[in-house]
Amino acid sequence: MTMETSQGNLILNVKFMDDDHKAMLDSLNALVAVSSSGAEAVAINEAFVDLVNLTCAHFEREEMSMLENGYPEYAQHKSEHSALIEQISALAQRLNVETNSVPSDEVVALLTNWVSQHIQTADRAYARYLREVGAANR
Ligand SMILES: [Fe+2]
Ligand SMILES: [Fe+2]
Repeated sequence: MTMETSQGNLILNVKFMDDDHKAMLDSLNALVAVSSSGAEAVAINEAFVDLVNLTCAHFEREEMSMLENGYPEYAQHKSEHSALIEQISALAQRLNVETNSVPSDEVVALLTNWVSQHIQTADRAYARYLREVGAANR
């Protein structure tokens, strides 16, 4: 999956966000690859954990940036992040319980839809704000 897919243009022209999003999409692609290759559940689990870690780290970076830049929509944006983390945690629990029935399609569909939707709405709004306050290149 590239950054410009049928899901729309995901480039925001804020370097740390674009870099993180690309890493998340690459990791998502790695998860798709490993789960469609008939790999062991443990390998799929590892790819999933990588993606979760990248996603959590990215959310923290974005939220820190919002606080530093006095973003008025911080709480709303953070709640979107929290909602995804909750959904991912529920999936992770199922992965741990049902090691032989990894819902990788479900994970991938959830993340692909959520990530592209969130980037194109909430993240795009934040990128616009950063440009308005002259902080998009920091
Ligand atoms: Fe983001
Ligand atoms: Fe975000």
